[in-house]
Amino acid sequence: TAHIHQDARPQKNSCDFSGLSFVILQLFAIFAFATCGGYTGQLRVSVDCMEKASSNLSIGIDFGYPFRLHQVSFEAPACEATRRERVFLIGDYSSSAEFFVTIAVFAFLYSLVATVVYVFFLNKYREISRAPLIDFTVTVVFSFMWLVSSSAWAKALSDVKLATDPDEVQLLIPACKIQTNKCGSVHGARWSGVNTSVAFGFLNFVLWAGNIWFVFKETGWHKGASRLAGGASEKQAGTFNQQPYNQGSFEQSGSYSSQGQPSEYSEVGGPTSYSNQM
Ligand SMILES: *[C@@H]1O[C@H](CO)[C@@H](O)[C@H](O)[C@H]1NC(C)=O
Repeated sequence: TAHIHQDARPQKNSCDFSGLSFVILQLFAIFAFATCGGYTGQLRVSVDCMEKASSNLSIGIDFGYPFRLHQVSFEAPACEATRRERVFLIGDYSSSAEFFVTIAVFAFLYSLVATVVYVFFLNKYREISRAPLIDFTVTVVFSFMWLVSSSAWAKALSDVKLATDPDEVQLLIPACKIQTNKCGSVHGARWSGVNTSVAFGFLNFVLWAGNIWFVFKETGWHKGASRLAGGASEKQAGTFNQQPYNQGSFEQSGSYSSQGQPSEYSEVGGPTSYSNQM
């Protein structure tokens, strides 16, 4: 039983590390879709008519995710007795906003599944030779999608800011086109929350792109390359080797630099790891 215990320890360390990195990816994905998908903002304009009785100096206009601004309307005084007119904002930015949130939600779900697999089914994952390959491909696709969706959302958000600028919204009110009426902006929408969603989008891109390396190590291409280069498959050896190798995964990665490692352990570890890949 002592033998089994020694085998299990390095394996546990390496899976904890991967599990933790996937938990971080989950959190950042949640921040990204929550800050974008949960956004609501309000701007406020004033219409000061020549006949003061029909003025409205505080017209609030609410909007939010998914930024279908052409469906957002408000009542503005027509400056003719008590008549009012319905005014619509311009633009539909839902495709970019929904694309961003969709990628964030799927990235969250994938990293949730990956956490469960890494923490509870790491042995099964390594037995199925195609699993790391699929993991690698999905991670590459997700980092690309984070880049594309964050860029699209950043562009859409700057357009939304322009379309909901109180100074621009005033120009849509028919009564404001008449010189004798005075229109003004009371306040614009707050953007700090939704600005963070763009920042989190690009941060997620960086994290996923960085995670490509960790997943790449699981594909075996890296191990094949390191054997060809004369190095031994240290990581695999440390994980599957029958030899009592009690150090954790961080010390294992440290052994890349020190070439003076005992060669017998890598020779024993090498063949077992390659048979696992096939
Ligand atoms: C001004 O417009 C708001 C809508 O934003 C409305 O609720 C309010 O009753 C209006 N005030 C007057 C005096 O018409």
